[in-house]
Amino acid sequence: MNLIGYLCFCVFTLAAFVQGVQKCHGTPKMYNGKPCASTTNYHDGMQGACGCGDDKSDKQFDWSKSSWTAAANQHFFDSHNKHWCGEKCGVCVNLTTTGGFPSDGSHTAEGQSHVFMIVDLCPDVAPNLDWCAQTAAHPANKFGYAVHFDLENGVHQITQTLHWDNPEVTYEIVDCAHAHQADHKTPSPTNYHQCVCSHSAHGKK
Ligand SMILES: *[C@@H]1O[C@H](CO)[C@@H](O)[C@H](O)[C@H]1NC(C)=O
Repeated sequence: MNLIGYLCFCVFTLAAFVQGVQKCHGTPKMYNGKPCASTTNYHDGMQGACGCGDDKSDKQFDWSKSSWTAAANQHFFDSHNKHWCGEKCGVCVNLTTTGGFPSDGSHTAEGQSHVFMIVDLCPDVAPNLDWCAQTAAHPANKFGYAVHFDLENGVHQITQTLHWDNPEVTYEIVDCAHAHQADHKTPSPTNYHQCVCSHSAHGKK
């Protein structure tokens, strides 16, 4: 590469690093005909907002810690703003990387799909305000996404197994049982039936 080319490459790389690269566009953001979401990862060890753990100790179940599970932003988690047993508890989403990433991530290869079960809430309070503060009046987060998934990283399954660094994804709601058959890292409906919210009227599946 000549000097000019090299400089341009550096400037482009720097711009990509600072701003991220988004493949999803529109309102709401879409890619390949599917709705888009931002992602992060977390681990707090607790049973979470769907009660997937021991109710007394508040410790999450092993499967919830080590499988493909996620917390969803409040507005997606429950349309009536419930913090506990939201209507998306136990719902599975097929997440596919777009190759894009918002400014808080880095490049992740496009076209990787895994099915995550929603077992927790990403509440619209600090330190989640950049990602999870969507409302009906303000339907996008700071990076422009209507939906956000905070992915469970209890055994480093996101950072070390997948090497996902806050990638942009498309999402599609899919059947958990079929997805579990194809990949046992997706929790099964039997797993979900252990959760407190599977027995409450609202979160029942
Ligand atoms: C998830 O989405 C990808 C990409 O569209 C597709 O190839 C795959 O079959 C889907 N998986 C499930 C379980 O729906």
